[in-house]
Amino acid sequence: MNIAVFASGKGSNLAAIIRQVKSGKIKANLALLVCDQPKAGAIAKAKRAGIKVALIKRDDFPDKKSFEAKIGEALKENSIDLIVLAGFMRMLGSELVCAYRGKILNIHPALLPSFKGSHAIRDAFDYGAKVTGVTVHFVDEKMDHGPIILQRAIKIDRRDTPESLEAKIHKLEHKLYPEAIRLVLEGKLKVSGRKVLVSA
Ligand code: GRF
Repeated sequence: MNIAVFASGKGSNLAAIIRQVKSGKIKANLALLVCDQPKAGAIAKAKRAGIKVALIKRDDFPDKKSFEAKIGEALKENSIDLIVLAGFMRMLGSELVCAYRGKILNIHPALLPSFKGSHAIRDAFDYGAKVTGVTVHFVDEKMDHGPIILQRAIKIDRRDTPESLEAKIHKLEHKLYPEAIRLVLEGKLKVSGRKVLVSA
């Protein structure tokens, strides 16, 4: 199985996945990083691990369609079977989603369907939620919406600050995402409508 990770930022989830591939806990080939931001920390992390990087910037294309067509080419060239979105700050268009339906995962730093969007940790904190968490889900055409694979909660206590909460969320993400990827690779998931059934 060839995996492509898509990232726009720091790449701490990418690093967690790299560690699990190296230790043999994720049995797959991390074949490609697709990144849209030249300054993203994820690029250095991928290069250090010997992973091929496709830097594909939206500004270099006249429209979203041609931008995504280029991404599609990179996926084909590298025979990608599974796409792992890890802080990729763009919605994928319907062509890519259709071409890889059931083969695109995303991680969201809140308990979906609460606190969708790109400021989920801060939004949960500011809202005064007592519990938040992490969700890994399949990607469909809507933002932060597809069937949920794994979800885990974290308490927000009185001493938490946005920073301490963020640290707790990331720590959990780095555990949960590899777990979800393993379930997918081992063929343990069955999707029925919105329900994802995990077999033992
Ligand atoms: C993570 O919090 C993830 O849940 C969200 O974007 C962030 C990416 O962080 N989708 P990193 O680049 O993996 O450190």
